[in-house]
Amino acid sequence: MSRPSARAASSAAVASSAAAASPARAASHAAPATRVASRRPTRGRPVIDVRRLSRVYRPAPDLQVFALRDVTLRVDRGEHVAIMGSSGSGKSTLMHILGCLDAPTSGTYRLDGVDVAGIDEDGLAALRNRMIGFVFQSFNLVPRTSALANVELPLAYAGIGRAERRRRATAALRAVGMGQRLDHRPSELSGGQQQRVAVARAIVTDPALILADEPTGNLDSRTTDEVLRIFDDLRDQGRTIVLITHEDEVAARARRTVRLGDGRLLSDSAMPAVGAAA
Ligand SMILES: Nc1ncnc2c1ncn2[C@@H]1O[C@H](COP(=O)(O)OP(=O)(O)OP(=O)(O)O)[C@@H](O)[C@H]1O
Ligand SMILES: [Mg+2]
Repeated sequence: MSRPSARAASSAAVASSAAAASPARAASHAAPATRVASRRPTRGRPVIDVRRLSRVYRPAPDLQVFALRDVTLRVDRGEHVAIMGSSGSGKSTLMHILGCLDAPTSGTYRLDGVDVAGIDEDGLAALRNRMIGFVFQSFNLVPRTSALANVELPLAYAGIGRAERRRRATAALRAVGMGQRLDHRPSELSGGQQQRVAVARAIVTDPALILADEPTGNLDSRTTDEVLRIFDDLRDQGRTIVLITHEDEVAARARRTVRLGDGRLLSDSAMPAVGAAA
């Protein structure tokens, strides 16, 4: 596949691309490909339908790294799935593909029924902006910018006007208990507060799918619990959540756990037949 890998970009660049897309990309919202980016997945259709997905990195001409091998996974609307596995097992690689930040070497990925391989870069950026909210371990907030402005960013890229942006960003920050910190910059917030701002940024566009790569990896147990409660609420609202974690306590909040090992799907606690078949 010729689409360039987003993995080469810095994590901050990935975050801005993921959370908000670029202004140039946002300008393409009217492109035909964005027709697929419905805010809510159609009932009965899996949000994520991954079949026989492989991702091979070739960091040098004579070197191949099989980061994902033949992974088949289906996630239905409203599921809360934890992805676990040892370091290097392919979790982030899978997350980047699910978030349309990277393309598989082989296999198919249908997001809300649409094969993403058929969508160009601009269409994918629009799709991400409308359909997916990302939360990263390292928060990836824009420094020297208020919590409110950070959360407004994806709305700005989506072309939403200033007053509406402010209203929705304020509501999202209130929803995660940050209504008293709207004007604080990231450096003026605790780690747990920064992650809550990052969650607000992920949900402000009302995405159907929330992807989180170790969202509590940098938090202590109390703030971990605060952030997990927000994910519980989001699940109760019917959002689809896929969350990578190393922590059993975090995985226990999800109703389904998928384990990766050496790039393969080793187990799927809720739907083993789907993971093993097809
Ligand atoms: N850009 C890249 N080029 C070459 N190899 C890569 C690249 N990115 C990841 N890999 C390799 O792919 C494998 C899977 O990496 P990945 O980042 O998906 O692991 P992970 O399960 O997220 O690990 P961790 O828990 O440490 O975050 C690893 O062996 C890693 O070294
Ligand atoms: Mg990782």
